[in-house]
Amino acid sequence: MFELNLQGIDINGEPPKSDPERQYYYIAKCRDHLKKREAELGRKLTYHNETFGCQMNFKDSEKLNGVLEAIGYEPRDDEKADFVIYNTCTVRENANDRVYGRIGYLGKLKKSRNDMIIAMCGCMMQEPTAVEKIKTSYRFVDLIFGTHNIFKLAELIWSVYEEREQRARDPKLKKRMVIDVWKDTNEIIEELPSSLKYSFKAGVNIMFGCNNFCTYCIVPYVRGRERSRRPDDIINEIKDMVSHGVVEIMLLGQNVNSYGKNLDEPITFAELLRRVDEVEGIKRIRFMTSHPKDLSDELIDVIAASRHVCRHIHLPVQSGSNRLLKAMNRHYTREDYLLLVDKLKAKIPDIAITTDIIVGFPGETEEDFEDTLDICRKVGYDSAFTFIYSKRTGTPAAAMPDQVPEEVTSERFKRLLDVVGKCSEERAKTLTGKTLPVLVEEENRTENMLTGRLDNNLLVHFNGDPSLLGSIVNVRLNECKGFYYIGEQV
Ligand code: SAH
Ligand code: SF4
Ligand code: F3S
Repeated sequence: MFELNLQGIDINGEPPKSDPERQYYYIAKCRDHLKKREAELGRKLTYHNETFGCQMNFKDSEKLNGVLEAIGYEPRDDEKADFVIYNTCTVRENANDRVYGRIGYLGKLKKSRNDMIIAMCGCMMQEPTAVEKIKTSYRFVDLIFGTHNIFKLAELIWSVYEEREQRARDPKLKKRMVIDVWKDTNEIIEELPSSLKYSFKAGVNIMFGCNNFCTYCIVPYVRGRERSRRPDDIINEIKDMVSHGVVEIMLLGQNVNSYGKNLDEPITFAELLRRVDEVEGIKRIRFMTSHPKDLSDELIDVIAASRHVCRHIHLPVQSGSNRLLKAMNRHYTREDYLLLVDKLKAKIPDIAITTDIIVGFPGETEEDFEDTLDICRKVGYDSAFTFIYSKRTGTPAAAMPDQVPEEVTSERFKRLLDVVGKCSEERAKTLTGKTLPVLVEEENRTENMLTGRLDNNLLVHFNGDPSLLGSIVNVRLNECKGFYYIGEQV
């Protein structure tokens, strides 16, 4: 991937004013510092990154890890590392609770390992109340930053090193947390290192932020306004990835269908997808997420005509009730949504459709909920992510009357799971006996099994040689197990 060249950087000179050069300077400076620590300790230093949340956060973590590795930290699977970073999510309340529990555990570890650096970043850190709580209750944390300045990681780590050195020189000094959280940004910094989790598949950001303000959702507040990367930067990154062996690309954005609108030379998502489809050597293209209100006929035509775009679309419906869709600020009706599904199925007959659904939005009646069950049956989803509504302070829905009691939501949630489970199974069963290409993604050594995905995203387990990891092989789908298949390579 992007090769970082630190030669010729004067780490004792003034830091460059602009990025990414400024960050290269700080990477080189931190690297020099780390080398000295390694020599003192007689061992390598390690990092551990724990990531919560969605694809966006996982992608950010690849960038954070890229910088940490460029500095010289080696990855480690558990929290007994020299540098521990939590990349947090705050989309639902229980996501926050989980993080606080984990920070407490880090505090215990740090008691016997004073050298350890603890960093917190991600969506939860964009919330002033979360930062306040950490400042008062978890004072052992060293560094807090948000979603808009992850590119600054090396510079921030340098501030932590400096803070420690100051205290070493003057033991009377109190520990100071390095905190740098931005409200929003227009900047997109290209050409920073990144460390891909898989060698054969990778996510690629095409845009950041969200302008939709669905009334239940905190994402626009913690990820800022929508901004798109330039198409040439995206295509060049993909070409670079493909030349290093990546075969599957996932284009990432909170609402990919509004890609390109704010660029100097506006371009549609459909046009971008057509350009990505032409990249030599690419085998599979996925994208998420598609907001139903912005899915164009042009996009459907591009998918239908493409050679490498997977026949799968993730199209979050959230609710099947027109009343709730309006209250959620989704800008489509159930009729619009069903029409869209019909168009997709007509032009791309084998397309898999998946979705997100929220149960228990304020004011949800039994009738509203029945409408949601009904739309699930009508669409026949291949799979669905189902969520119990979680009240997020600061969003309009949190202040709405008629919050639905927990007993009611949990009962509805069970009924919903039952319906979507049956839909998925019915859809999956239609493939029994077929032989289809599978991208091999994981190996299970103990059982000598491989796991891969069909074009439509369905999981397949089969016997095979681990050397097949990352390649696409033909597998006969013998036995449908509901949401996955047992197959055999042919
Ligand atoms: N941008 C994407 C989704 C991002 S969040 C989209 O528009 O579809 C992923 C999912 O989390 C959402 O689709 C929604 O179903 C769910 N979600 C968001 N806020 C929530 C909340 N307050 N309570 C429960 N689920 C929520
Ligand atoms: Fe949240 Fe809606 Fe934006 Fe998706 S489109 S991130 S659900 S506000
Ligand atoms: Fe969570 Fe942030 Fe994603 S809140 S769902 S990690 S955009």
